[in-house]
Amino acid sequence: MKILVINGPNLNMLGIREPDIYGRETYASVCDKIKSYAAQIGVDVEIYQSNHEGDIVDKIQSAYGNFDGIVINPAAYTHTSVAILDALKSVSIRAVEVHISDVNEREQFRHISYAGMACEHHIIGHGTDGYLEAVAYLAGVGE
Ligand code: DQA
Repeated sequence: MKILVINGPNLNMLGIREPDIYGRETYASVCDKIKSYAAQIGVDVEIYQSNHEGDIVDKIQSAYGNFDGIVINPAAYTHTSVAILDALKSVSIRAVEVHISDVNEREQFRHISYAGMACEHHIIGHGTDGYLEAVAYLAGVGE
């Protein structure tokens, strides 16, 4: 099984950005954690990060026919991007939305998720372990 993990803007700044909200784990160590967990459960994983909406749309489109599942944390684009929602709908690949923080307990503008409307499962506020839970969910581990 092949899973694409997509991270949106500013997630490359994990460990530096707002540590009280997002923790002190660096982006590189989160990627390592996802890769070693995926290897442990026999999943082939690719991790992608971009600060640019169109690049994320291109990446989702390029997943068509190449991946069995998408784990996506669109970061700030979660709350604004119909283009990412439409891209996820276009490829019809099973998708899981992840947010490190509990967006529902934060500002009102973070309560809407466009991308989430194309996702079958949502893992919100479980910290960076949420990525592992999302990979496990798509792989059917622990069912
Ligand atoms: C986030 C929550 C978003 O509201 C925010 O813009 C992010 C990160 C999260 O993982 O908690 O950049 O997606």
